[in-house]
Amino acid sequence: MFMENDERIVTSHIRDEDKQVENGLRPKYLESYIGQDKVKEKLKIFIEAATARKEALDHVLLYGPPGLGKTTLSNIIANEMNVNIRITSGPAIERPGDLAAILTNLSENDVLFIDEIHRLNRSVEEILYPAMEDFALDIIIGKGPSARSIRLDLCKFTLIGATTRAGLLTSPLRDRFGVICKLDLYNTHQLTDIVKRSGNILGVEIVEEAAVEIASRSRGTPRIANRLLKRVRDYAQVRAEGKITKTVAKEALTLLEIDELGLDAVDKKIIETMIDNFGGGPVGIDTLAASTAEEKNTIEDVYEPYLLQIGFINRTPRGRMVSEKAYKHFNIPYKKE
Ligand SMILES: Nc1ncnc2c1ncn2[C@@H]1O[C@H](COP(=O)(O)OP(=O)(O)OP(=O)(O)O)[C@@H](O)[C@H]1O
Ligand SMILES: [Mg+2]
Repeated sequence: MFMENDERIVTSHIRDEDKQVENGLRPKYLESYIGQDKVKEKLKIFIEAATARKEALDHVLLYGPPGLGKTTLSNIIANEMNVNIRITSGPAIERPGDLAAILTNLSENDVLFIDEIHRLNRSVEEILYPAMEDFALDIIIGKGPSARSIRLDLCKFTLIGATTRAGLLTSPLRDRFGVICKLDLYNTHQLTDIVKRSGNILGVEIVEEAAVEIASRSRGTPRIANRLLKRVRDYAQVRAEGKITKTVAKEALTLLEIDELGLDAVDKKIIETMIDNFGGGPVGIDTLAASTAEEKNTIEDVYEPYLLQIGFINRTPRGRMVSEKAYKHFNIPYKKE
């Protein structure tokens, strides 16, 4: 679905190089999950209440840009509830029968995790409504006038859905989630803690300032922080006997062509297009997508959240505007109207 160029070292989408390491770096319990305090707080209460009642947790919808920890959090919820988790994704469930098979195989209070839940097809989604609401499956037996519907009871379960944007879900589906959690980009402080934690697990020696250096170029995204850490580790191993000092981190990151803010050529193109073609804005998302030749969804899910966080773009009712800060960063003279 995403057309983002995943060759980018700072892509927030998963790359092959991330796969082997990611599982080992995933925190297993809420306690070791860094940041997202509001989400953790909310989940803690619901988990405690459900556990005390020995019931399944209410259905949970997690949304936010890629690489922020939705899959991680789903596994954590299952661990905290001490139940099994069954993992699948929207596009993987092709027919209603596939979902029916998964649902009938769940045990009491299990977690069913559906990644990219906005990509479920309509006929599958309709099976999900009674399953979520009444823990029941409606099955049609026979064909034509003699067809009849029977209702099959399911075990109580918790559905955890993950998506990059809640707005991509149909409203009947969204309305059936009792707990809706939005994950935000992480700040440098939180990412520094994540880098230090990962360094610890990987057994690399890294000084605080170097961790900050990596964190501040990670676009608010733990997945990118972990990827950059691994690249810097390799550099340190070859050039600096394995120890990651601030200088080593800076050198390695410069070699990777990541600027101090983690921006790369595509970010630059977006900002420059807004300035050159639209006088810095306001410009609407569709126009921007058309004139940068980037997917609208990718701009909204991947580029824009970070550009908003660092204050390079402001959203106004009339469209996106480039801020003075961005002009400065890219050395473009700023003309006030
Ligand atoms: N709060 C956190 N604390 C520590 N590490 C984290 C945290 N969140 C994410 N990570 C790390 O970032 C990596 C990516 O997280 P995860 O796979 O859960 O993201 P995601 O939101 O599911 O991404 P996608 O949208 O691509 O599915 C994980 O390997 C995990 O180690
Ligand atoms: Mg995921």
